[in-house]
Amino acid sequence: MDKIVGKTKHGEITIDELAQLQPGLGKLMDDMSTRFTYMYHSAKGGNWKLAHYQYRSFISIMKKIKIVRPKYTTDMDAYEKHFMIPVKEAIEAEDWKKFEETYKKSVEGSDHYHDKYDFSYIRFITPKNPPEHMDLGPPEKFSRKKKPL
Ligand code: HEM
Repeated sequence: MDKIVGKTKHGEITIDELAQLQPGLGKLMDDMSTRFTYMYHSAKGGNWKLAHYQYRSFISIMKKIKIVRPKYTTDMDAYEKHFMIPVKEAIEAEDWKKFEETYKKSVEGSDHYHDKYDFSYIRFITPKNPPEHMDLGPPEKFSRKKKPL
């Protein structure tokens, strides 16, 4: 049987090569920390819907990590259960104090896992400056007076 290949204008690519081209853990961790940062600043700004959206995006990256690096599955699941579910509950309750507490624990949790895998030189810190390309609230700013179409 012929090997299954994808064809591009540059040549052919096998399924195995495609699998190897998937983003590695470093890239996915970088994406995760971006979502984590956006989640923090959206909650701080009072845009809880956006914070929830960023939370969901963070979890969806964790799912991808479980596919490309299955050896982290148990730890990813434990991290979600112990650290991220409380963050989600704080977002849903729109409770900044609870969010801050649970968020801080989540950062400590990431330190724990980086230590576990001998990456103790990796320490996530929350960027001080909020992202500039999204409206982070407060929600009163979201009254759209005119319909664009
Ligand atoms: C179960 C939880 C976690 C595990 C097992 C874990 C594990 C790892 C590992 C093994 C690396 C090294 C990746 C490589 O280059 O091969 C890494 C990198 C990194 N992790 Fe995590 N991590 C966890 C949670 C988090 C969280 C929650 C954050 C941030 C909110 C985070 C932020 C980072 C960052 C910024 C890097 C460096 C990425 C880069 O190369 O630019 N990690 N993590």
